[in-house]
Amino acid sequence: MENIKSYVQQNKDRFINELIELLKMPSVSADAAYSQDVIDTSEAVKVSLEKAGCDFVEICETAGYPIVYGEKIIDKNLPTILVYGHYDVQPADPIELWTSPPFEPVIKTTEIHPEGAIFARGACDDKGQMYMHVKAFEYMVQNNNLPCNVKFMIEGEEEVGSVNLKTFVENNHDKLKNDVILISDTGMISNQQPSITTGLRGLSYVEVEVTGPNRDLHSGLYGGAVANPINILAKMIASLHDENNHITIPGFYDNVEELSLEERAEMAKAPFSLEKYKKALNLNDVYGEKGYVTNERNSIRPTLDVNGIWGGYTGEGAKTVIASQAFAKISMRLVPNQDWEVITDLFAKHFESIAPAGVTVKVKPHHGGQGYVTPIDSIGYKAANMAYTETFGVPAIPVRSGGSIPIVALFEKELKSKTILMGFGLDSDAIHSPNEHFGIFNFLKGIETIPLFYKYFVELSK
Ligand code: BES
Ligand code: MN
Ligand code: MN
Repeated sequence: MENIKSYVQQNKDRFINELIELLKMPSVSADAAYSQDVIDTSEAVKVSLEKAGCDFVEICETAGYPIVYGEKIIDKNLPTILVYGHYDVQPADPIELWTSPPFEPVIKTTEIHPEGAIFARGACDDKGQMYMHVKAFEYMVQNNNLPCNVKFMIEGEEEVGSVNLKTFVENNHDKLKNDVILISDTGMISNQQPSITTGLRGLSYVEVEVTGPNRDLHSGLYGGAVANPINILAKMIASLHDENNHITIPGFYDNVEELSLEERAEMAKAPFSLEKYKKALNLNDVYGEKGYVTNERNSIRPTLDVNGIWGGYTGEGAKTVIASQAFAKISMRLVPNQDWEVITDLFAKHFESIAPAGVTVKVKPHHGGQGYVTPIDSIGYKAANMAYTETFGVPAIPVRSGGSIPIVALFEKELKSKTILMGFGLDSDAIHSPNEHFGIFNFLKGIETIPLFYKYFVELSK
């Protein structure tokens, strides 16, 4: 039997080329202009699962983009691993900031990836990481050492809130029945120090609209005499944080779990350099909630951030105008126990209540999801740690991430199983940003590590 290391060495060029083909497909779920590409990508994922050795693969239609489901059931008495991933990607813009076109993958070296990284939208989030699972599975099938049953569920709407996946999961408990859910859609500390994500933040995403006069006005004739929606919106947004950068929405922190000093001391042991962090982002200082350090601010604490703000004249030159309306998109990252629907409500009530006379305010909820924390004494966690320890030579560190994969909390609620987040990306891989990339080292290490998770999970389940 060939071992995984040599299988990867012998097949790595093919693995990389296959991933490159997948990355050429612009499966942007947020933009209807790409709808055919998203659908084509689901087909490509289906074919890849068939080729890798699934006995049954189907495209499950939804009210939105399809979910690709595949399985190989070898023995009903053995454990079943459900692999989740997504084939949709974020929009590529601002396109002018890419050093090479987002859907024309190229391999370039970087300081962090001296062995090369594939640059393309979706390289890390999540096509590259999802495809590691397909190739790891191919290896186990080819070498007759698949130790358990596998189900794949690869969706096309993660980046837009997984609304239809929610319905699919609710309606397919039997089909999706599993002993553990395995996801590679997060990151790790560094290529020398693996980590396992033990927490994800929840999310509430809203859009706000401030309306003043019924038309745009001459800023000389009317300026000073009517509420300017842009001025008001800026003021309202500014008031959402106090001087300590605490969020001012009444009730916002009610259910926030306060970590003990011991837990915070444990977190602080993870390697982190504030100097490097600032340097990587070209910042003269960090900024955030008083009383917490950077690694707490971006993981165990909730946030409120404007993601976009617009209104008025932004074209060339000057136009003296008071816009009739101003808008903003706002995301709130939540921690476990904060219910996203409750928070969305609290936000809406508060935001409406602080609007001065002279404007009207509308809050439109977009989507959201609950946060997640997973224990580190489960079989799944132990198996993942054993797998990382073997391939990286050092044990993984548990880390709570600031990002969100809202469907994970739903999996637990509906399917009653724990999720193990085995991410192989790095924060510097620029997911959601221009020049997203995924290290070749990371891609291949992922393929090597995954079969070991299968092996140890089955061993520990006995
Ligand atoms: N893979 C990311 C989430 C992620 C990345 C978690 C890195 C932890 C570490 C996922 O594709 C994503 O972008 N999620 C969205 C939420 C979704 C509802 C749009 C997010 O976190 O903004
Ligand atoms: Mn993702
Ligand atoms: Mn994403």
